Amino acid sequence: MSRQTILIVDDDRNTREGLRRALQPLYDIVLVDSAERALPTLDERHVDVVLSDIRMAGMDGLTLLQRIMARSHPPIVIMLTAYGNVETAVEAMKRGAYDFLMKPVNLDHLDMLLKRAVRASEVETENLRLREQLDNRFGLEAIIGHSSAMKEVFEMIKQAAPTQATILLQGESGTGKELVAHAIHQLSPRSKGPFVAVHSAALSPTLLESELFGHEKGAFTGATERRRGRFEIADGGTLFLDEISEIQPAIQVKLLRVLEERRFERVGGQETLDVDIRLIAATNTDLRKMVEEGRFRNDLFFRLDVVSITLPPLRDRTDDIPLLCNHFLKEFSQRNNKPVEDISSDTMAALCAYSWPGNVRELRNVIERMVVLTHGSRLTVRDLPQGIRAAIPDEKRNLWRMDAGGGGATGSIEEAERSMIYAALKKNKGNRSRAAVQLGISRRTLQRKLKEYRLKEAAADPLTSLGASSDAKQ
Ligand SMILES: Nc1ncnc2c1ncn2[C@@H]1O[C@H](COP(=O)(O)OP(=O)(O)OP(=O)(O)O)[C@@H](O)[C@H]1O
Ligand SMILES: [Mg+2]
Repeated sequence: MSRQTILIVDDDRNTREGLRRALQPLYDIVLVDSAERALPTLDERHVDVVLSDIRMAGMDGLTLLQRIMARSHPPIVIMLTAYGNVETAVEAMKRGAYDFLMKPVNLDHLDMLLKRAVRASEVETENLRLREQLDNRFGLEAIIGHSSAMKEVFEMIKQAAPTQATILLQGESGTGKELVAHAIHQLSPRSKGPFVAVHSAALSPTLLESELFGHEKGAFTGATERRRGRFEIADGGTLFLDEISEIQPAIQVKLLRVLEERRFERVGGQETLDVDIRLIAATNTDLRKMVEEGRFRNDLFFRLDVVSITLPPLRDRTDDIPLLCNHFLKEFSQRNNKPVEDISSDTMAALCAYSWPGNVRELRNVIERMVVLTHGSRLTVRDLPQGIRAAIPDEKRNLWRMDAGGGGATGSIEEAERSMIYAALKKNKGNRSRAAVQLGISRRTLQRKLKEYRLKEAAADPLTSLGASSDAKQ
C-alpha cells in the first residue's frame, strides 16, 4: 500500500516544520505557506489529506476549505486553529471539514485523527469504485449489440483487457470507440486507477505537447505554473488517446519514446519521469494508409498496433439496429419522463433501411429526438426525421408501406401472408422472381397478391401513392 500524501497549509514556519517532523515517518508531506499556494498544488498532485490553518494572511482557511470542497474529488480537510474559537470550528465543519484541531497540536490526537481520516478516504474511494461498477455505464454491458461482428468485438475486449498490451481502436466516427476504451479499462486490473482521455484533434500541437507531457514553470510564454501532463495524471491507469492520426510528427517521436521506455520529461524540464500506463489509441482514419503515404511514423504505428480492434460501421450490422433503437427508446423515455413504449414495425423497417453515416451516435440522437417530439406512446413513420424517410429507396418505401398495413385485421391470415411476402421481398432486395421462388408460389401469383394489397392500401389511405415503381428488377 503506497503512502498517503498530506498537504500542510500554514503561514507559520515553526508550525509547518514541527508538523513535518512529526508526520514524515508515516506520510508523504507537502508544505505550503499560504492558501493561495495550496490550490495549484492540488492541481499538480494527488493529496489525500489537507491540514490547514484557519487564520492566515491573504486567503483564510475557511475560504480555502470552500474552494477545495467545490472540486470534483475533494481530499479530506482538517482545520487547525490557535484561537479555540468554537464558532469558527463549527463553521468549518459545516463547510465540509472532516474535523478540527486546536493549536498547539497534540500529536497523539493528530495521529489518531489522521488514521481515521485516511481510513475514511479509503472507504470513500472504494465506495466510488463500487458505485462505478454497479452502474454499468462503462462496462461491457454498456455496449449494445448481438451481431456476429459485435460478438467478435466483445471477445477481443475480454481477451485484451486483462493484459498490458497497447490497443488500437479503429472505426468510423460514432461506432463506439470511446465506449470500448472505457470497457477495456473497467475490465482491466487498472480499473481502480484513473481513465484519462485526450482528444488530440481539439488541441494545437504546442498545447497538445504540454497537455500530454506537462510543463515546467516558464517553459513557454503563459506557463506561469508547473503543470502535470496527462501521462502523469494517468499513472497507474489507462490513457486514451483519441484521434491519434492528428498527432504531429514532432509529438509522434515523443510518444514513441514513452511507449518504448515508459519515461519522459515535462516540456522545459530536465527531470525524467517514469510512468506506469496502459495506452489505448483510437482513430477513424486508415492509419496503415497514412503510414504508406508517409504521414504517420511506421515505428509508432507498430507500437500502437499491438492489439487492434475494428468497430464495424452500423450499416454492416443491421441486426443490431432494432436492439439499439429499443435500448435508446427506453433510455430516453425514462429520462424525459415520457411513456413511449415501442416503435411500429414499419418505422423500424425504415430505421433498418437507413445507412447511418454517423453510426450509433446518429441513431442515438435520432431516437432521442423522436422520443422528445412524439405525442403518442408508439413511434410511427410520422415521427421519423425527414432525412431518414427520404433516404429510403422507393422500392423499400413501398415494401414498408405494405408492412404498415391498413390497420384492423391484425393477426388475420391475410396479415400473416403479407408479412411473409414482405420478408421474402426484403431478403431478395425487391427481386420478385427470387422472392416467389422462396415463397413457393409463381411470380404471377405474387404479382396478383401485391396488386391486391396495393389497392387496399390505396383505399385505406388515398393520399399514399403506391406507384408501380417497385416492379421487378430482374
Ligand atoms: N454499441 C453501442 N451500444 C450503445 N451505445 C453506443 C454503442 N456504440 C456507440 N454508442 C454511443 O454512441 C455515441 C458515440 O460513441 P463513441 O463516442 O464511443 O464513438 P467514437 O467511435 O469514439 O466516435 P468518434 O470517432 O466520433 O470519436 C456515444 O453516445 C455512445 O455511448
Ligand atoms: Mg471518440
